[in-house]
Amino acid sequence: MPLDIGIADESRRTPDMPLYTLKNKTTNEIIKTTDPGRALITGKWKDIGRFKGPILRSVASRPPYFHDGSAADLPAVIEFYNNRFSMGLTEDEKADLVAFLAAL
Ligand code: HEM
Repeated sequence: MPLDIGIADESRRTPDMPLYTLKNKTTNEIIKTTDPGRALITGKWKDIGRFKGPILRSVASRPPYFHDGSAADLPAVIEFYNNRFSMGLTEDEKADLVAFLAAL
């Protein structure tokens, strides 16, 4: 199921990425995104920024991560989730999650 976990948010844009400004012609809402994602396929406003989560088998062997390659390694993936979802992970817990991903 495609989900928006915030990877394409304007706040994560680096200078080498585009910034699309999309306007909802019914509500006048504006969304700025580096990648409209699934909305490019469906044309639906609700699908802006939604991406499929890839299968994680052998994930350690294929950095960088996320659709735009914005996480250079597995610790960067964990750092993203820790910040984005305010998980409050300890350094030990982060290391455990990296080891878990590396075992898949
Ligand atoms: C701490 C828990 C989690 C870990 C360790 C984790 C791990 C990962 C990794 C390693 C990737 C990148 C895979 C690749 O690029 O090949 C990924 C992508 C993704 N994950 Fe998670 N994930 C977690 C939680 C979640 C949750 C809770 C959701 C949904 C609410 C989610 C949805 C997604 C989606 C949609 C992508 C694709 C994003 C994109 O490429 O833009 N993940 N995850």
